[in-house]
Amino acid sequence: MAKTKIEFVCRECGASHYQWAGQCLECEAWNTLEEIVVSQVTSSRPESLKDLPASKVQNLSEISTENKTRLTTGLSELDRTLGGGLVDGSVVLIGGDPGIGKSTLILQALAAINRSNVTLYVSGEESAEQVSERSIRLGIKADILFISETHLEKILKISKEVQPKVIVIDSIQTMVTDLSTSAPGSVSQVRDCAAQLTQYTKQTHTILILIGHVTKGGALAGPRILEHMVDTVLYFEGDAGGRYRVIRAVKNRYGAVNEISVFAMSGKGLQQVSNPSSIFLSNQKTPSPGSMVMVVREATRPLLIEIQALVDQANGPAKRVSVGLDQNRLSLQLAILHKHGGIATFDQDVFVNVVGGIKVSETASDLVVMMAIASSLRDKVIPKDWIAFGEVGLSGEVRPVFNASERLSEAQKQGFKVAIIPKANAPKKADKGIKIVPIEFLNQAIRYLIEST
Ligand code: TYD
Ligand code: MG
Repeated sequence: MAKTKIEFVCRECGASHYQWAGQCLECEAWNTLEEIVVSQVTSSRPESLKDLPASKVQNLSEISTENKTRLTTGLSELDRTLGGGLVDGSVVLIGGDPGIGKSTLILQALAAINRSNVTLYVSGEESAEQVSERSIRLGIKADILFISETHLEKILKISKEVQPKVIVIDSIQTMVTDLSTSAPGSVSQVRDCAAQLTQYTKQTHTILILIGHVTKGGALAGPRILEHMVDTVLYFEGDAGGRYRVIRAVKNRYGAVNEISVFAMSGKGLQQVSNPSSIFLSNQKTPSPGSMVMVVREATRPLLIEIQALVDQANGPAKRVSVGLDQNRLSLQLAILHKHGGIATFDQDVFVNVVGGIKVSETASDLVVMMAIASSLRDKVIPKDWIAFGEVGLSGEVRPVFNASERLSEAQKQGFKVAIIPKANAPKKADKGIKIVPIEFLNQAIRYLIEST
């Protein structure tokens, strides 16, 4: 009998501990440690993977990469986010809120891939009828192989028989393996299932697409380990109730990270939006205090995004809430606003939101967030044709951002007339269509806002 060892793994960050504790020592999350049984025998392969070809020793310089052509998903936007398509032997993890369109997207992609390759769709959540109904709705007529199954060993056995080029597991949290005795969706089940599937994929040069659930906080449910194991991690962003969905690559061994693609949910599945530049603006007829537009540049394309702030007299301890932006950064921005912009918010609730449910991680949003907060507090309406970007440092200096000229030309193309930007980014020769307001320190931007509106 193999000896067993017990470990406690954090559901949030995947750190392992020898002892149970109420709080994870690594990420400091409360109540996230889960007991898992680690088998001492790690040298032998699990039964389900026994008859796979063994890996051989090769000279790196002699390995030909010529035949590494990428498999297209039929959706050019998705291909771009993947870095040009799916790579042989790679594992892609797709996460997102329930109902956001993960299964829909994958079914659409499989239909295109299926024209030249065998594909296997494994669903642990839906029955054959449900999936077939969806494919009829999407107008798909492809011979995609389908099983409704959660038992991993059975799935691997079937895969060896039919040898598909692409396997989809919908979702990894529903899978169970004989190697683990804990409940489906628990850390050890997710980890063991993903490990076996990944091993299978690498050795047979199959492409594996894992669909994953996310927690309320937006992280992938189950251990972070899942993110380390796979080659590419894609996240769905956007409101499940809204029309637009953004797919973002947060990790990619075969392409650029932070690359995004935009889709619109329609009656016939997800439609690509090839020019998403201005779809995230709120299009309010009469502008109100607290909103301002910025140009973000996600990987390879500029995107216009509207930031809204609401500052209101606090009733009790002051609240700071940010949706779509970093919460810690908001505290920092408020402190800089007070110290270097003369805007005090210690007795005010501050709410900041990005329109359209998209996430912004760029520090270039600092200036816009701060101006929106000042605008709401002072009740000053920022004109609709103003735009801003810039990173603000702790001493109130406004720092330059990357690709400023590209951002400016996009703003100009969309009809913006005033651009409040870092002085270091200001073009030497001013363009005719747009007025440039170069800013060196935060207080200049605040003064411009108060004097010109
Ligand atoms: P789904 O792919 O099942 O989401 P997930 O797998 O991420 O949970 O998508 C479900 C939502 O999409 C559902 O609310 C219905 C909607 N939908 C459409 O609006 N049009 C369509 O053509 C399809 C297939 C779904
Ligand atoms: Mg689904």
